[in-house]
Amino acid sequence: MANLLITGGAGFIGSHTCLVFLEAGHELIVIDNFINSSPEAIKRVVQLADAHHRLTLVEGDICVEADVEKAFTSFRRKNFLFHSSIDAVIHFAGLKAVGESRTNPLDYWGVNVNGSYTLLKVMAAHGCRTIVFSSSATLYGYPQRVPIPEDAPIAPINPYGQSKAAVEQLLADLAASETGWRIARLRYFNPVGAHPSGMIGEDPCGIPNNLFPFISQVAAGRRINLKVFGNDWPTFDGTAIRDYIHVLDLAAGHLITLETLLSEKPQMLTLNLGSGVGLSVLEVVAEFEAVCGQPIPYEIVTRRFGDAAKTVADSSLAETRIGWRTTRNLTEMCRDGWAWQSANPYGYAN
Ligand code: WQD
Repeated sequence: MANLLITGGAGFIGSHTCLVFLEAGHELIVIDNFINSSPEAIKRVVQLADAHHRLTLVEGDICVEADVEKAFTSFRRKNFLFHSSIDAVIHFAGLKAVGESRTNPLDYWGVNVNGSYTLLKVMAAHGCRTIVFSSSATLYGYPQRVPIPEDAPIAPINPYGQSKAAVEQLLADLAASETGWRIARLRYFNPVGAHPSGMIGEDPCGIPNNLFPFISQVAAGRRINLKVFGNDWPTFDGTAIRDYIHVLDLAAGHLITLETLLSEKPQMLTLNLGSGVGLSVLEVVAEFEAVCGQPIPYEIVTRRFGDAAKTVADSSLAETRIGWRTTRNLTEMCRDGWAWQSANPYGYAN
């Protein structure tokens, strides 16, 4: 089993991935500054996995070299402290709101790019050269063709996407330096849902930017109604189409990717993680209503700046290269997302 550093492990995707890694028997150090997450998520992950001695939580910021160093040099196992190497890093920590990135590009370049640079520098100093990076389909911008393959042009249209593309380039330079790096750049499409226990899930700060948590909060009575950003798109029902992927399918993709990197020679993998299935906004609304048993009031408003009509993954490379594909459908995404939101109407603040 491996010793893994998970940056941003208390976040939505991070917490579900920590659970999957613990269930696979790995030992984890989680570093998180809780700017958009809660230590309660880690408490519940450890409880779900019954892994009280295989996760060490370090409160820290990946932009602060001393914090990253602290995560690298302290590893608690069987109640005593000793220095231990980290075998690999799963790097989630970062800012991820598209709209916010336009009003606050300095923070996005600082956290996402400088933070990743600091992490990689400390990794290299400790001889740890295996990393799985949380990238995003946002870096494709307006897709020229759908489904989108990994060799589609990289053309981000917002600072968030630019920052992800910049880190991907840094990782490509490391891979080309032939100094033994094992790297995976995983481009997520639209992660949604939650663990079926209802104990962990997506808990965005403030008003949700994304569709799924907004719908969930309407169903939980926290929001009055959903604003649908346009019904004049060139799609079958006029609303925009996206590739939604259950967060546990995404977590499983990280486990298979890590195991592939650790078992093979130094290389760089770049993989789309999506379902390949496009669903419209109104299809998601309808399924969520069916699952939660109540109407989701909505109003049609104008399109949101920067949106595309249709973004769907070509994830065939992930299936042929590492044997990964999604297994959960929209009903399960809605069912599990509602299990979390209905049990935790105010998220971890409950
Ligand atoms: C989905 C659809 C909206 C909210 C973003 C990031 C991407 C990734 C996932 C990090 C769109 C519509 C939304 C609402 C709506 N995150 N919508 N009303 O924009 O596809 O992707 O999140 O990596 O990088 O770009 O996701 O959930 O915001 O929107 O009508 O209140 O729902 O127009 O068609 P998006 P989203």
